[in-house]
Amino acid sequence: MYSEKVMDHFQNPRNVGEIENASGTGTVGNAKCGDIMRIYLDIDENQIIRDVKFKTFGCGAAVATSSMATELVKGKSIQEAMQITNKAVMEALDGLPPVKVHCSLLAEEAIHAALWDYAQKNHIEIAGLEQPKSDISEEEEEEEY
Ligand code: FES
Repeated sequence: MYSEKVMDHFQNPRNVGEIENASGTGTVGNAKCGDIMRIYLDIDENQIIRDVKFKTFGCGAAVATSSMATELVKGKSIQEAMQITNKAVMEALDGLPPVKVHCSLLAEEAIHAALWDYAQKNHIEIAGLEQPKSDISEEEEEEEY
């Protein structure tokens, strides 16, 4: 049912952990299953993603897709990272069963939420990035503007 690559990334997930003083963090939840994903990004002054880590209370497919997504965005520019969709992640994993496609969205949404956090902190705009809807970050409440 799962490809070898999915099994590999599930059993040996890359980039698990957290980054202290991350440039941006994003925490999102999946309404369908209640699983949670948090991504930490370390972004340098040239807007290159130097490092990325993730933590999840998620299923195996969420672990595998997040592991692959972190591998794909590491070393990339912010704009390149914006192009990495859950479809690209699934292709890199040789596919996911249809009932597990929603799990792959967690990683994409968490990366976008972390980029949003980075943009907010640095008062910049990232083309094509919108405030993530499923952001459930409890660290600071969004202020009304
Ligand atoms: Fe929840 Fe996969 S079932 S993320």
